[in-house]
Amino acid sequence: MSNFKDTVLVSGGAGYIGTHTAVALMEAGYRVVIIDNFSNSEPSAIEGVKQIVGHDVIFEQVDTCRTDELRRVFERYDFSTVIHFAAYKAVGESMDEPLKYYMNNLLSYMNILELMKEFKRPNVLFSSSATVYGDADVLPVTENTPRKPATSPYGNTKQMAEDILRDCCAAYEGMYGIALRYFNPIGAHPSALIGELPRGVPNNLLPYVTQTAAGIRECISIFGNDYDTEDGTCLRDYIDVVDLAAAHVAAVDRMTEKKMKTKYEIFNVGTGRPVSVLELVTRFEKANNLKLNYRFAPRREGDVPAVWADTALANKELGWVAARDLDDTLRSAWAWEKHLRGIK
Ligand code: UD1
Repeated sequence: MSNFKDTVLVSGGAGYIGTHTAVALMEAGYRVVIIDNFSNSEPSAIEGVKQIVGHDVIFEQVDTCRTDELRRVFERYDFSTVIHFAAYKAVGESMDEPLKYYMNNLLSYMNILELMKEFKRPNVLFSSSATVYGDADVLPVTENTPRKPATSPYGNTKQMAEDILRDCCAAYEGMYGIALRYFNPIGAHPSALIGELPRGVPNNLLPYVTQTAAGIRECISIFGNDYDTEDGTCLRDYIDVVDLAAAHVAAVDRMTEKKMKTKYEIFNVGTGRPVSVLELVTRFEKANNLKLNYRFAPRREGDVPAVWADTALANKELGWVAARDLDDTLRSAWAWEKHLRGIK
């Protein structure tokens, strides 16, 4: 007899959201099997997880596109649930190299689903994105807000993966699925031992901000100040990655405790509060007591003016709320960047 609640396979568990979720699951009493091929992450991320939980972790270096490697993981570990994070995520790159995205993101996913079916493992939790809403007609978006046609292969893989999971859950008796639609994850674990590790020039706002604060980038470009918003900059729903990790634990609990109302469910995971790009930058300065260089630049192609979540369903059904204060989140992001760069 083990003392674990259950075992969870976390693919892409060395990544930004994967590491935070693995920690949260272990702290909640789950046994976690992490797999990753380090295609966009580092072994140091696993070391960070070990330090936080205070013991060794189960890790296998596996490429989820390789059925043989993945099969061995299924043979070796008896998990009931998989959380599938492993995917490429750079929107711009997906436009230049669509096949790279379709091959990797869909092949790995179908391998997982096929083996879940074969090994009769019931629960699949998929990392979806607010990107599926596109430029929504009504804000905030609820889970019933119609999806807009994807504007990038990356976004398309998220939409397709949602539909594949819906169809599998409808067809296969023993399969259950939850898709979590993340808004904009930011921040880092309060220990500053894990966080986002972007390679090259960051595409996302917060890593760009922290790297500018660290002196690695000269100036932040705020993409567009002529949007139809109060200060003219885009509105987003920035969710602390630790809160996001907690939402995964709540979703895993719901699956393993058999509390799902239908075989396939979707939840928005955001704060429900829109924050403008300019506000985020200036709040970062105040929260961390520093000054940043920033300038207004032309709009970035493909950006939607505004999107934020209606979180009522996740609050009610998952019993989860985004609890962390934005200023604390912004401090955690800076603490992590300082840890990475050895800044005192
Ligand atoms: C982006 C992706 C989205 C993906 C998500 C993953 C696009 C169009 N969307 O969301 O599909 O799921 O990342 O994390 O790439 N900004 C600046 N200057 C910068 C960087 C960003 O002003 O240097 C602004 C953007 O215009 C946007 C906001 O900051 O208004 C947030 O940008 P970002 O962090 O890239 O996230 P999204 O674009 O919302």
